[in-house]
Amino acid sequence: MSDKRILVTGGLGYIGSHTVVCLQEAGFDVLVVDDCSNSSEKVLDGIAAISGKKPYFTKLDLRDKEATEAYFKSHSNIDGVIHFAASKAVGESVADPLKYYENNIGGLVYVLQACVKHQINNFIFSSSCTVYGEPDTLPIDESAPVKPAASPYGNTKQVGEEIILESCKAYGLQAISLRYFNPIGAHESAEIGELPIGVPQNLVPFITQTAAGLRKELEVFGDDYPTPDGSCIRDYIHVVDIAEAHMVALYRLLEQKNNSDYEVFNLGTGAGSSVFDIIKTFEKVSGQALPHKVSDRRAGDIISVYADTKKANEVLGWKARFNNEDALGSAWKWEQKIRSKS
Ligand code: NAD
Ligand code: WQD
Repeated sequence: MSDKRILVTGGLGYIGSHTVVCLQEAGFDVLVVDDCSNSSEKVLDGIAAISGKKPYFTKLDLRDKEATEAYFKSHSNIDGVIHFAASKAVGESVADPLKYYENNIGGLVYVLQACVKHQINNFIFSSSCTVYGEPDTLPIDESAPVKPAASPYGNTKQVGEEIILESCKAYGLQAISLRYFNPIGAHESAEIGELPIGVPQNLVPFITQTAAGLRKELEVFGDDYPTPDGSCIRDYIHVVDIAEAHMVALYRLLEQKNNSDYEVFNLGTGAGSSVFDIIKTFEKVSGQALPHKVSDRRAGDIISVYADTKKANEVLGWKARFNNEDALGSAWKWEQKIRSKS
């Protein structure tokens, strides 16, 4: 049990909501802020259905500097911040980069400024394997060079990490950036998961919506890549594994076990899976054939990327527990649950 108070920004989102459940189950006093731009207050009901209580929620747009500062001023004794709030659609970031810089950088800066002003020293940041770009060697570890970002979204994660590093040096902040690979799946209860807002850009929600009959068929974006079966390879990781890794990182900071003011860890399984692997596994767990066809490559796609998990396993002390069958089975259960309610 913990008597600590943790603020989760973007806590109604896909990964944030799963992390809020873990925090509540561990006895933390959880505050959530979210502007509901890519989520809904109904997620609070899902969180409560699992953990037994709703976190203290405030609708807040972190792009509003004054409102953000006012929030921190009126909510004292915060022991740590987990910052999920951001826009995350790669394609949209290319079409509207200023939206992404304003939100992902502006919002981050205002939260960091408030942390410094109110002496909140523990900060966890949602980063992404996208900072690596197309890796030179695989699996990819945290010492790999950060390459020029392939999108404004990816650049906001690279710049975000740099801002946090400089803030640690200048203000004594203690921070951990977690570089997620490809989060998929949903809580086993199917009370929370990735909300189906708009046409899914990511593979797994498109697969589950196709299986549910909402989409005619899945387009496999290319089967002529230099990989064993010609489709791109990724490190798909269960969202609950990601959430649990945030708990380990939080305790590391609260117990001052971090080795330096700023640390970075990959969050992956260490296993690469192709698009066709994912389709086959989904068909196995769902018991139904998935309508799909091969189409042109998608611009900007990385051929193959998967994590070297040694540092997360041995230094952070965390290892992914679930496999693709677990994750895809939970994703399908979530899809069926939300379809049953619609
Ligand atoms: P999500 O969109 O489900 O969650 C983000 C939440 O932040 C949403 O609830 C949204 O309403 C909120 N938000 C956005 N802008 C805000 C603002 N200005 N003020 C307050 N709230 C705001 O996304 P997610 O998949 O849960 O991702 C969470 C974090 O992890 C993001 O920073 C994302 O970039 C990062 N990430 C996600 C993935 C992925 O594949 N899902 C991979 C790597 C990194
Ligand atoms: C996975 C694979 C596609 C959809 C993105 C962001 C990354 C992070 C995670 C935020 C690729 C293929 C997909 C489809 C397909 N998000 N695919 N048909 O591109 O690895 O990563 O989400 O941080 O920053 O870039 O994930 O799920 O979009 O694609 O064939 O309809 O599935 O080509 O090979 P991606 P994805």
